[in-house]
Amino acid sequence: MGNHPHTRATLGSKLSAVLVTAGSSVGLGNIWRFPYVAGDNGGGAFLVLYILCVLLLGLPLMIAEFSVGRATRLNAVGAFRSLDRRWSFLGYNGVLAAFLILGFYFVVSGWTAEYLVGSLSGALARCTSSAEYAEMFETFIHNPWRPVLYTTLFVLATHFVIAKGVRNGIERSAKLLMPVLFVILVVLAVHSLTMPGGGAGLRFFFRPDFSKVTPSTILVALGQAFFSLSIGIGIMVTYASYFGRETNLRHTALNVTLIDTLVAILSGVVIFPAVFSAGIEPASGPSLVFITLPSIFRDMPLSMVWSSIFFLLLVIAALTSTISLHEVVTAYLHEEWHLNRRAATWATTGATAVLGALASLSLGVLRDWTVCGLNLFDSLDFLTANIMLPAGGFFTCLFVGWRLDRAVLRREITNDGTLRFRIFGAFLFLLRYVLPVILLAIFLDNLGLF
Ligand code: PFF
Repeated sequence: MGNHPHTRATLGSKLSAVLVTAGSSVGLGNIWRFPYVAGDNGGGAFLVLYILCVLLLGLPLMIAEFSVGRATRLNAVGAFRSLDRRWSFLGYNGVLAAFLILGFYFVVSGWTAEYLVGSLSGALARCTSSAEYAEMFETFIHNPWRPVLYTTLFVLATHFVIAKGVRNGIERSAKLLMPVLFVILVVLAVHSLTMPGGGAGLRFFFRPDFSKVTPSTILVALGQAFFSLSIGIGIMVTYASYFGRETNLRHTALNVTLIDTLVAILSGVVIFPAVFSAGIEPASGPSLVFITLPSIFRDMPLSMVWSSIFFLLLVIAALTSTISLHEVVTAYLHEEWHLNRRAATWATTGATAVLGALASLSLGVLRDWTVCGLNLFDSLDFLTANIMLPAGGFFTCLFVGWRLDRAVLRREITNDGTLRFRIFGAFLFLLRYVLPVILLAIFLDNLGLF
């Protein structure tokens, strides 16, 4: 087993731990998925459920994953294996899920890069109606080479950061990109709020509509919370393995959850007033960002500027998330397969570039390659988000709640007894009983068994 604690990188400060982890959590899930899901599931009512899920369920699980990572200072597979060999499957589930998520996440990230270039060059402003934007999007994603080119560019950008290592690559990029992301988001939100007719958008997003809340809404909220926080997949285990001894795991997890939620809410504030002010019906996920928004930007004064900074925001959000997914696989290959870090980085880059290209082509020329009726792109999405992530979260709760030595857990959470944690019993109760039951329910619901 590859255990190199003495040569292992450590993040420079507590703030870096927050920024790096928030970089993973804040992603496309916050900016395009959250506003739409919230809008569709009762607006303000969903928001309340979502915040409850994040704080009561997501936060404890993040702390649990952090504890495993920092206690072992190993990659996801090594971490579980060193604690109990029989649980290494949990690490493998994470590494494999990270690899498969990269397969489709790189493709969507590539689209954001293409739209950024299109905004800067003015190409995006040339369409005249929503129908033309829809056609442009369809033509682009079905094209055999352009999306593959942008996917590959995105893979290489991620590679470049990972190749520089934990300190000079991951930490530095997060310190630079996260503040930029936040500033862009605030500028866009203020701009959106000043648009005429935008109030209707805010009402749509925030007004609690309890008629849309059904028992399965809580499951939708939890699924969104886990995806958005990047938990259940070994990312938090891997990142926490780089935390210093002085890092307060609870504070870090709380800060990251708050930042992630704030970004999700601000994204709704950016998107809905704009959509309503243009008199457009809020449409679903990808089409909202890639079809509806460009056509809204087109009619704004300084349209090129707004559209460019919006797609820059998406590129940054996507990049800090692809970096974390790449690192999970790279750290595994480096430590478990004994490849040097350079070779491990290239192996991950090469394999994900091939998978990403195939996933991209599966929307066009390879659309006839299907697994259970889904093309490759959709099957990667389905398999990871609906099966591997909830399963990872479920078994992580069981592992940390029942198997992990309590003294180890307490030591990590209290930094060797120097911090107080009065509700340790309640925390353990959540991990042992509450979370597994709810996660099992999500899982069965996702499989359509309810
Ligand atoms: N949390 C990121 C987002 O919200 O887009 C992306 C993500 C990373 C999702 C890792 C899932 C995951 F396992």
